[in-house]
Amino acid sequence: MASATSTESPLDAIPVAPPDPILGLLEAFQKDARSDKINLSVGVYQNESGRTPTLECVRRAEAKLLESGEGHGYLGIDGHPAFVARARRLVFGADAEPGGPLADRLAVAQTPGGTAALRVAADFLHAQFPSSRVWLSQPTWVNHAKIFQSAGFPIGEYPYFDARSHGLDLDRMLDALGQAGPRDIVCLHACCHNPTGVDPSAAEWERIADILRDRNLIPVVDFAYQGFGDGLDEDSAGLNRLVAHGLELVVCGSYSKNFGLYGERVGAVAVRARTPRGAGAALSQIKSAIRANYSSPPRHGAAIVATILNDAELDALWRDEVVGMRRRIRAMRELFVRSLAEHGVDQDFSFLLKQRGMFSFSGLNRMQVDELRSRHAIYIVDNGRINVAGMTTATMDRLCRAIASVLAS
Ligand SMILES: Cc1ncc(COP(=O)(O)O)c(C=O)c1O
Repeated sequence: MASATSTESPLDAIPVAPPDPILGLLEAFQKDARSDKINLSVGVYQNESGRTPTLECVRRAEAKLLESGEGHGYLGIDGHPAFVARARRLVFGADAEPGGPLADRLAVAQTPGGTAALRVAADFLHAQFPSSRVWLSQPTWVNHAKIFQSAGFPIGEYPYFDARSHGLDLDRMLDALGQAGPRDIVCLHACCHNPTGVDPSAAEWERIADILRDRNLIPVVDFAYQGFGDGLDEDSAGLNRLVAHGLELVVCGSYSKNFGLYGERVGAVAVRARTPRGAGAALSQIKSAIRANYSSPPRHGAAIVATILNDAELDALWRDEVVGMRRRIRAMRELFVRSLAEHGVDQDFSFLLKQRGMFSFSGLNRMQVDELRSRHAIYIVDNGRINVAGMTTATMDRLCRAIASVLAS
């Protein structure tokens, strides 16, 4: 007898997932027919013409790669060897070089962007520390909770941003971390905190390092904006404090922003262990997590980064281009604060000058954000986060006039 077949559709019954809050805004922006629309929501760098440029060093590296016959073969599970060698150095400095104190205490693997670095880190950590909790700053990048939850972790939050001072709420942060259990995982932003733009000072990093060590916590340092804060080396200062305290930690690096290689998906996950055995074991487990996720990472973007960093001239050009992006962001912060005052805004926005990187919490509330979008075609994330790198000299006047009118209404 033929078995009964059901005509019910299993897929028809599944719920629709909510759209990503930031990428959803991008779709709305793209559909907006107003010609003077301004997008300050998505986290990509834009130049003075409002475009996300291909860096000159990347263009030249691609020409070199065409000639070199790099090919399209699979990479090993842990990625492009020349890229990995350079990524170690970029994140941990000279200590990671052969013979340096960290040389045999690091486990580093290439990943498809910083997102996959976080996901591989999360899978690796969950396999080894299944009863730990992950602590995220309140607020943090919207994807952090999803990534760590998907790996199976419960999430806790620690206070971070003080809305009154527009700065770091260190005492409440340390109080909350004081409640974390041993081997709980604490996600920190190395620099250019997303979404607030607020980073700890050197002295504050010391106190954070002390509590992480005293409570035997495992830091996961998200390093998505190296070079966008104070400089490529300067931006590792906090991370270096944690390393100097002897902490075992994970770093999740992204080369999307500082090389402008967004769509090529270039990142790296790095574990700093206290012993060579710990580093070897961590690398084996990371490779196991990668194999189960995507087998091996993509070649092209990593080959571009390796070509740039292995060529003295291209490396110097890249460093200059990073300085150029950082200076432009800084100049936009200054112009924005000045223009708001010129448009009669009496609220003090000078806190924007203390914040680092592409993002700032503007302090605009949900109603004001909605009004900017509906009346002025200016797109800002609902929580008031603005991407300063989306501003240009040409759009500044219109932007500040619109904000002044929304604040006055
Ligand atoms: C804090 C933070 N971490 C990680 C990422 C992910 O970077 P990627 O685009 O390289 O996956 C981003 C990207 O916006 C970010 O802002």
